[in-house]
Amino acid sequence: MSELCIRGGKRLIGDVTINGAKNAAVAILPAALLVDGISEIENLPYIDDVIKVKEAMEGLGAVTEFIDAHTLKVDASTVYDYNATQDYIGNIRASYYLIGALLGRFKKAEVAMPGGCNFGVRPIDQHIKGFEALGAKVVIEHGMIKAYADRLVGTKIYLDVVSVGATINIMLAAVLAEGTTLIENAAKEPHVVDVANFLNMMGAEVKGAGTDVIRIKGVERLSGGKYSAIPDQIEAGTYMMAAAITGGDVYVRNIIPEHMYSVSLKMIEMGIEIEEGDDYVRVIAPEILKATNVKTLPHPGFPTDLQPQMAVLLSVAKGTSTIIEGVWDNRFQYVDELTRTGANIKVDGRMAVVEGVSTLSCAKLAATDLRAGAAMIIAGLRAEGGETVITNVKYIDRGYETIEKKLAALGADIQRRPSKVTEEDC
Ligand code: EPU
Repeated sequence: MSELCIRGGKRLIGDVTINGAKNAAVAILPAALLVDGISEIENLPYIDDVIKVKEAMEGLGAVTEFIDAHTLKVDASTVYDYNATQDYIGNIRASYYLIGALLGRFKKAEVAMPGGCNFGVRPIDQHIKGFEALGAKVVIEHGMIKAYADRLVGTKIYLDVVSVGATINIMLAAVLAEGTTLIENAAKEPHVVDVANFLNMMGAEVKGAGTDVIRIKGVERLSGGKYSAIPDQIEAGTYMMAAAITGGDVYVRNIIPEHMYSVSLKMIEMGIEIEEGDDYVRVIAPEILKATNVKTLPHPGFPTDLQPQMAVLLSVAKGTSTIIEGVWDNRFQYVDELTRTGANIKVDGRMAVVEGVSTLSCAKLAATDLRAGAAMIIAGLRAEGGETVITNVKYIDRGYETIEKKLAALGADIQRRPSKVTEEDC
């Protein structure tokens, strides 16, 4: 068990390079199970969630090998099992993609119920609706989701909620189905497009990813190839906000700036200068930030996965801001913990009102989930009076590669150490 210790007040300056997207990686890897051959996936972030998915795939018989820290070779021709139990899935949410992939490949899948960060109820009814529409019988028993089909046949599926997971999962099940599948009201996130591009590179026929309607013409088999995952929009946004809270000047590199529009434009409203290049943004922050209002929405709206980080930034902006969480029922659980720094945030259901304060103070904070943990780091970068200590770092390690090293390279005073700090240290 480790913890992160931050002495706030250092201005972040320099360059940070963004890794591949976690939420693309954890879907592309299961998608590789559909390939009757070898795929090589580059630009994978080296994070706990990716390692867990890799291990789950090995448990099913796939042979994997890291060619370098960010490139994994997957031979899925050896996959023999369709049963992914809790033992090797751990608590990751993305385990649900194994259902779509195994169902697509073997017409049967038995996968432990997905875990992941807890934002209240996280149903998978739209995934199941999609599998059933394709002809599968789905039952949930003994903590497992079991799906079986004699054959999968393409059809029209309307999603009642815009769901990233359901959109991708139905794509996975449909690429090897007979005939054509239409997913209406599909999610448009960059990682949905990335998974479609990966599948197409392997021989699938997926059109329309990135729009509301995805059309998948089933093919008989997918064969191998090389693919590089997109950069992580959420990691990029996290560093943009980290730079901004310190009044910093940071180049966030190896990104797709178009993916950042909703974030960049909100930051510009706050008085932050954002300079855009081909594959980078430069964040130049003033000393005093302005309040603004944010509503999280499916892409191209403001991403829910940057909501906690934005809340911290707004907590030191001049004036009153509001945040409406438009995706998850319960994604303000971190607020109680954050108020220990002096942040003034009041939550009412899916809305938070943030009264800007001029300083945050150091505190001992327990990360409540992945993005909340990132938000707490951002708070620590600004906090005065000593050391901010963040525990439950395991959540942060699920999604950020060497976050303390990247921040230290920008000038932050941040260290990882074994967890044993008491309140007196602050
Ligand atoms: N929903 C349903 N039924 C379903 C599926 C979803 O009602 O069958 C609802 C959810 O309850 C939620 C909304 O639809 O209110 C959107 O959920 P979605 O399915 O899009 O979320 P997800 O696929 O489970 C992914 C990311 C999350 C991210 C959301 C929204 C992965 C592994 N996870 O989750 O990422 O918050 O999309 O963009 O891709 C994170 O990275 O920190 C993270 C939580």
